[in-house]
Amino acid sequence: MHQEITEKFNSLKEKQLSIDITRGKPDKDQLDLSNALLDISVPTTSEDGIDLRNYGEPFGIKEARELGADLLDAPLENILAGEQSSLLLCYQTVLSNFLFAEPTPWKDLDNPKFICPVPGFDRHFMMLNDFGIEAIPVPLKNDGIDLEAFKEALEQNKNVIGMLCVPKHSNPSGEVYSDKNLEELFKIGKDSSNKFLFLFDHAYLIHDFLPTPEQKPLWEIALQEKVQDQTVITTSFSKVTFGGGSISFMATAGYSLDLIKKVRTTMIICPDKINQKRHVEFFKDVETVKAHMKEHAKLIRPKFELAYSHLEKLPSECGTFSKPTGGYFITYFTSKPIAKKVVNFCKEMGVLITPAGSMYPNRHDPDDSAIRLAPTYVSKEELASAMEVFITAVELAHFDISI
Ligand SMILES: Cc1ncc(COP(=O)(O)O)c(C=O)c1O
Repeated sequence: MHQEITEKFNSLKEKQLSIDITRGKPDKDQLDLSNALLDISVPTTSEDGIDLRNYGEPFGIKEARELGADLLDAPLENILAGEQSSLLLCYQTVLSNFLFAEPTPWKDLDNPKFICPVPGFDRHFMMLNDFGIEAIPVPLKNDGIDLEAFKEALEQNKNVIGMLCVPKHSNPSGEVYSDKNLEELFKIGKDSSNKFLFLFDHAYLIHDFLPTPEQKPLWEIALQEKVQDQTVITTSFSKVTFGGGSISFMATAGYSLDLIKKVRTTMIICPDKINQKRHVEFFKDVETVKAHMKEHAKLIRPKFELAYSHLEKLPSECGTFSKPTGGYFITYFTSKPIAKKVVNFCKEMGVLITPAGSMYPNRHDPDDSAIRLAPTYVSKEELASAMEVFITAVELAHFDISI
């Protein structure tokens, strides 16, 4: 068998492949779904008579906020419609607390910390790092954060000021948090402090491509648990229309809403209202958005299924993999500490994969096990080749075959 794998390695290397599956980006055919946005005619004024071409409406035009309110199931007064990046809204949320949190701005705290489920999104760790906030990793279970570990992290650490997670189709392993998990999370966090920040990056809120467990709107659970003032939910249309060219939304209340408004008022006079209006004209309502996402699902699902069919060929002793029903990523967990080795073998065969470790704080995966695969931004033919490479690399590393 070893000889067969070595031969496969050599023949794949000879093909001189050059395939990049490092980032979860929409493919061209997905972007084409929104081409009508490019030509859409936008009036000069909003529904309530605001001139879209001028400054004004720092928290977004009403009709865009209404769309956000429907999307996040929160009242209009709790919704902000922002620029083209939800990550920016997350960053501004952390910044607002860093500068102005009460009673003590986070910048004045000794070694402030955030709880982050792992594996997680590399940019979240980078963001916290920018602010000198230590990310405390806690494991994920199928139905959300490991609550025992969450509790322990709070008990064992001082100055844990918040948590940051992707509650649906978690990046990168695809978990969908259950309502129960979210309720408990809120209870435990709130017990630790009434200023503990629940920051939800809901990037994959409407990105199902296979039947997905129902999740109550986060806002509804936050209200039920009376934590709306310490909850911030962000999302965007980056993977609905154009990556980096869409519109972002935030739901929050009271104290947290005041903080974000304060920091944004200094930072930005107003978002791009014309692009907001363009998106509202394009979609009209949330039902149209959801129908549009079904078209994305038709393009994405076959790629994930193709990837699953290859991963299933790997002997089970080599590892396990997540089989998400939405989102943009699959995570393969090697059973031996060989993730770095696998990624290097892939590179030798011409396939680029997100560096091993990136899904953990300080780029350190203590088990050297998690590997993120992003199957969307390549053709099915390229994906098939990339998956051949990947399984060959796993086998080479797992069986310690010399090449
Ligand atoms: C979890 C998560 N949040 C945010 C983003 C970026 O979103 P945006 O373009 O709205 O900043 C991504 C993109 O990959 C993501 O995976």
